Amino acid sequence: MEFSLSNIDDLQYSYDWGMYQAKSLVKQYENLSSDSWHRKDVLEFGCGWGYTLLYLLLKKKNVNKAIGVDLKDFWNNYYSLSRDFKEIYDQVELVDGDILVLDELKERKFDTILNANIIHTLSPSYLESLISWFYKHLNPKGKVLTIAKTVFNTNFYRLPLKTPYAHLLFPEDELLNYLGAERLHSWFPYSGSTYIMLFKRMGFNIDEVIRIKSPLADFQLDSEHRSKLSQYNEEEFSTSEILISASKPSESISNL
Ligand SMILES: C[S@@+](CC[C@H](N)C(=O)[O-])C[C@H]1O[C@@H](n2cnc3c(N)ncnc32)[C@H](O)[C@@H]1O
Repeated sequence: MEFSLSNIDDLQYSYDWGMYQAKSLVKQYENLSSDSWHRKDVLEFGCGWGYTLLYLLLKKKNVNKAIGVDLKDFWNNYYSLSRDFKEIYDQVELVDGDILVLDELKERKFDTILNANIIHTLSPSYLESLISWFYKHLNPKGKVLTIAKTVFNTNFYRLPLKTPYAHLLFPEDELLNYLGAERLHSWFPYSGSTYIMLFKRMGFNIDEVIRIKSPLADFQLDSEHRSKLSQYNEEEFSTSEILISASKPSESISNL
């Protein structure tokens, strides 16, 4: 099935995963921040095909500029977009490369930076540099809207690990070797509060936090493993995904 402007509101997961995902992410960003998109310069970090930005334009949110950045130029390989969509897709500015070193973005500032389902895959040192980049490239009062999984996300549990939450119980290199051997994404051991702490430390204000609970919150750990998790409170332990709205103060002095 081909999408067109007439059926944009009827997106179903099975028709087109990319556009369906975009619709669901925009809904989550709007739950997180009630700010309008009107006249904003919006950057999406790790944009994939850039469909979230396309969806914002299709829904006539009146963004001023929609810019997407991804390591890979997925957009050169998009599929089944109707002519209506393609014309609007051309209005999205898409840049490929590592955001931290891209010349095209070096001098630019944004009002809103979106990122979903990425930062849990980034190493701690890269993540710190990234949050610092966000701070530097936001206008005063600009916002970063983040959707990220935590170490307690139940997807981990699907891995063929012998113990639940094994990643908390092994050194990082051992864990990464194991996950690498399985050809799976490596996720780092960030809990919800880790992300909040990183944004705060960089000078951001935290405006809103939505914690998505894990269905495995009541999972029965044996006493040996529970004692190793005792430093986490229940709220932390049961947060599998977190949405954070962080803003740059109007007069900003970065802490780092
Ligand atoms: C799991 S996908 C998420 C895509 C989309 N945001 C979503 O939620 O469906 C993560 C994306 O981040 C991109 N990515 C990872 N590290 C990046 C970096 N340093 N700079 C730009 N993009 C990056 C990957 O290429 C990938 O497209």
